Amino acid sequence: MAKRIGILTAGGDSPGLNAAIRGFGKAAIGHHGMELLGFRSGLKGLVENNFQVLDSDTLSGILTIGGTILGTSRDKPHRMVVDGEVRDMIPTIVENYEKNDLHAVVCIGGGGTAKNAKRLADAGLNVIHLPKTIDNDIAHTDTSFGFSTALGIATEAVDRLHSTAHSHHRVIVVEIMGHKAGWLALGAGIAGGADVILIPEIPYNLESVAESVNKRARSGRNFSVIALAEGARSIEDAADLEAAEALRKHANTPEAKAAADKHRATVEAAHRDNAFKVAEQLEEATGLESRVTILGYVQRGGTPDANDRLLGTLLGSAGADMVADGEFGVTVASQGGAAVAVPLEDVAGNLKTVPVDHEWVRAARGVGTGLGD
Ligand code: F6P
Repeated sequence: MAKRIGILTAGGDSPGLNAAIRGFGKAAIGHHGMELLGFRSGLKGLVENNFQVLDSDTLSGILTIGGTILGTSRDKPHRMVVDGEVRDMIPTIVENYEKNDLHAVVCIGGGGTAKNAKRLADAGLNVIHLPKTIDNDIAHTDTSFGFSTALGIATEAVDRLHSTAHSHHRVIVVEIMGHKAGWLALGAGIAGGADVILIPEIPYNLESVAESVNKRARSGRNFSVIALAEGARSIEDAADLEAAEALRKHANTPEAKAAADKHRATVEAAHRDNAFKVAEQLEEATGLESRVTILGYVQRGGTPDANDRLLGTLLGSAGADMVADGEFGVTVASQGGAAVAVPLEDVAGNLKTVPVDHEWVRAARGVGTGLGD
């Protein structure tokens, strides 16, 4: 009997998801004689038993398409809103897994999905995880698919902003995605030649950012482009956030936890619109007119580049081999160009942020880019 495998995509979409679905599917069906069920809209599809059979026809022609043919969601299996109530839906997932006679489930997603995949593995399911995210923040994988395409898009934006900043003698603050990690802003900032790069891992001092801009103006370059990671914070804001996190970590009653959650949400809300705050502060400190560009979802949209097609195909097809070999409870990581099985417990909840002494940080400093410290 052919082994039946479920596959789903979860979390924010990213370029290369379809390449990974195709990579896994073609190898699973073509090489290992498996059957493939594609569950729709992330973990929700497993709960609602909402799937379509994927065969060589459905997998054909999707390599170059952005987004995901399966749809996605950020639902968490252990805390899902069903009929207006938050419920643990893992038992329902186990039931559907058994009902469909599944041999394994492939969860394609980022850090949140790795945690959810581990929850399913802990409930006794055979699970593997394929690492996608434009944030590149998944532990133990050199790169996640989606990152390369987003890096290209953000770099092009930084390039293009130069000529308009130059023409108008302006400071342009460009907000780049990345959640709590600075990989995308740092990479695009370096590749696009941003004058200052601000990332979450290096809390900034506004005076130092203004000095970088003023120094350029003194040497006749009266415009600047600032690549600001969405998670970057000033030294003061980062300290507030850290205190709120600590409060949350040490809350040991449900009431204290609820109060700490509320406090953290208030602190986070106060940091929203940070790009506008930075632009305003820079205008005041430098006298140069300042503008903001939020790149937003354009960074995740559209056709994957060659690297992401390649990585999605590599990890997807290696994942099919792992399932065939009975290797479960792992992330199919990319290490030194090879696909390697890393235990989910080493990946889940383990964010890969930019080390402050990373080569990219050194290179940015080397070419005189300000990092706000
Ligand atoms: O994790 C990918 C990502 O695009 C982050 O860079 C960003 O913070 C987040 O998703 C946005 O999430 P949503 O799609 O839920 O708005």
